[in-house]
Amino acid sequence: MDLFKTYKLWPIEPVKGLGCKVWDKEGIEYLDLYGGHAVISVGHCHPKYVAALTSQAGRLGFYSNAVENSLQVTLADKLGRSCGYPDYQLFLCNSGAEANENAMKLASFATGRSKILACSKAFHGRTSGAVAVTDNPKIQSPFNKTGNVEFIALNDTEALEAKLSAREFAAVIIEGIQGVAGIYEPSADFLQAARTACDATGTLLIMDEVQSGYGRTGRFYAHQQHGIKADIISMAKGMGNGFPIGAIIISPAIEASYGMLGTTFGGNHLACAAAIAVLDIMKEEALMDNAAKLGDYLMRKLQGNKAVKDLRGRGLMIGIELNPGFETLRDRLLFEKHIFTGGAGANVIRLLPPLCITEAQADIFLEAFNDLTA
Ligand SMILES: Cc1ncc(COP(=O)(O)O)c(C=O)c1O
Repeated sequence: MDLFKTYKLWPIEPVKGLGCKVWDKEGIEYLDLYGGHAVISVGHCHPKYVAALTSQAGRLGFYSNAVENSLQVTLADKLGRSCGYPDYQLFLCNSGAEANENAMKLASFATGRSKILACSKAFHGRTSGAVAVTDNPKIQSPFNKTGNVEFIALNDTEALEAKLSAREFAAVIIEGIQGVAGIYEPSADFLQAARTACDATGTLLIMDEVQSGYGRTGRFYAHQQHGIKADIISMAKGMGNGFPIGAIIISPAIEASYGMLGTTFGGNHLACAAAIAVLDIMKEEALMDNAAKLGDYLMRKLQGNKAVKDLRGRGLMIGIELNPGFETLRDRLLFEKHIFTGGAGANVIRLLPPLCITEAQADIFLEAFNDLTA
């Protein structure tokens, strides 16, 4: 059997990792400033994480959501205390798209409304509902196109207020920072206006923190720097440091009813053990502070480079928009300097490293970047 060829592959196979480094089959060492797409939060193969997963795998890997699972309760308690939403409710699933599906379905149940308002250039995932609020017709099949979704430009406060005033929308969904689009931040004014308009019209505010959450920007969730609270927050990626897990946290004002949401694998024992270990390591190693500090450092040092047209983002979610002529830079970083970075189109490099990156590792990247753009 052949693989379904839907990914464009680099001819490299990482087979081993540690912290911010990975090694390929030939033993070549790479600096990982991509984190497998913002997934590696506490670092590859962190010994505490490996121990937690190994020990859970040797005890009980899985049982269904038909029985009690105290690992889920422990995870909810630790997450609530870490993330600044201690009174919210946790629903566990398996991925970012699934988290957004559940967030929107729940908003529709709670309000009795069927429409969702989303932002242009947004990416919320590839399952049916998530792709419908993703502003990219190329990844929407005819089956996914729906009249229930409308788009406004990110940061267009007037359009947002006008749309919500009709009281037809169950929710507005906004990324904490738009990642796939190339690192664009919602402004404080826009988010504050969204909060006010949602309250005035009975609409729920969903923040998609799948990429920008879990400490990556120096706050637990990116939207928290703007002093607003969301009704439902979706997360995944960094939550399991590579073990598939996603979640939504839900305002106490929204009531659950039996059977409303569900999943076979969501919240399984191995996923919870991974997610608990991640939160413990983040706290013990102050990784959120490290993300803020190293993010500022990288931004400061990248200023003024002639290849850089614009620098965007916060913490360790950085978009480097490149001037014309530097389109091959991401490939050159990988093949000549052995540094993985993310991309967004041909002219934006995205830095999404593990939150444990050190200043010395940031310097290796900066030296390589300066060398290739000299
Ligand atoms: C903001 C955002 N939401 C949702 C998703 C979808 O997550 P997943 O691929 O885990 O379904 C992504 C993935 O890149 C994302 O960046």
